[in-house]
Amino acid sequence: MAHAPHRHDPANQHQDGGHHHAHTMDWTQLAPHLEREGETAAPQYREIARWIAASHPAPDRILDVGSGPGVVSCLLAEEFPEAVVSAVDPEEFLLARARQRAERAGLTERVHTHRAELPDGLGTLEPAGLVWLGRSLHHVGDQRAALAAIAQRVAPGGVVALLEGGLPTRVLPRDVGFGRPGLWSRIDAAEQDRFSAMRAELPGSTRETEDWAALLASTGLKPGASRTFLLDRPAPLSDGDREFVIDTVRRRREMVTDVLDADDLATLDRLLDPDAPEGLARRPDAFLLSAQTVHTAVAAPA
Ligand SMILES: C[S@@+](CC[C@H](N)C(=O)[O-])C[C@H]1O[C@@H](n2cnc3c(N)ncnc32)[C@H](O)[C@@H]1O
Repeated sequence: MAHAPHRHDPANQHQDGGHHHAHTMDWTQLAPHLEREGETAAPQYREIARWIAASHPAPDRILDVGSGPGVVSCLLAEEFPEAVVSAVDPEEFLLARARQRAERAGLTERVHTHRAELPDGLGTLEPAGLVWLGRSLHHVGDQRAALAAIAQRVAPGGVVALLEGGLPTRVLPRDVGFGRPGLWSRIDAAEQDRFSAMRAELPGSTRETEDWAALLASTGLKPGASRTFLLDRPAPLSDGDREFVIDTVRRRREMVTDVLDADDLATLDRLLDPDAPEGLARRPDAFLLSAQTVHTAVAAPA
């Protein structure tokens, strides 16, 4: 597939981007944000990995489907030291970042990349004991078909971990001290509409009730558990977390520019002003709170 600069991305839980056009995005431009997000949420991902490890056999192969720049692929390699990890993504640019990351981490022997796209591209991949889908399924028009293809790539007794849903990230209180209170909920609402429009434009787009456990079960896998993991960084933020928060709000502002009213946009601009004492760069009350839900399902043993 040619480089695809305008893959779509939702703006629901993780504010993962939006450029140039209301419902499209540029993964290349988004890579640093995905990396920073993965690094910031690393403890959350490690907790998820340990939760999976506690109730499933240790995998010797892991597929990270829709891996992006491979932050989580490398974390999984560290958490499952016996496993070889394939980072699978349609975007060669992101896979190159994943390879560089693996090299920096000394993981080149156990982290490989494979260019492929759901739902049809996984046929040549060997089944794995753990198939990880981190906020990638919602980029596929026909999610049911994609999960059916995923189910074929789970080794007997293996597990699928599907990260979808959760709650919108919060970084400031409802009333930030100026502008109309409730800005964050209005941004959420705008992003939900954008997300639906994004999904409607995907090739083969099919509407599904987002009952992830039921969708997993429809493939013949046996539903496992669902659990939500928190990233809870109370104020005052570290410099790194603060940068991530500012980056997140900047991205959210880009995504809702056409939808929010002038007052709300002015509030966001004031929050993003690096010199304003009431801006995110300086205010003491900024925090980071996010919730990601993981759904597991298992393949029958051999
Ligand atoms: C929001 S990013 C998540 C990246 C990574 N899993 C993480 O949690 O940081 C979504 C990823 O899904 C990939 N993607 C988009 N469409 C896809 C498809 N049809 N099949 C597989 N991956 C896809 C994108 O290239 C992108 O890397």
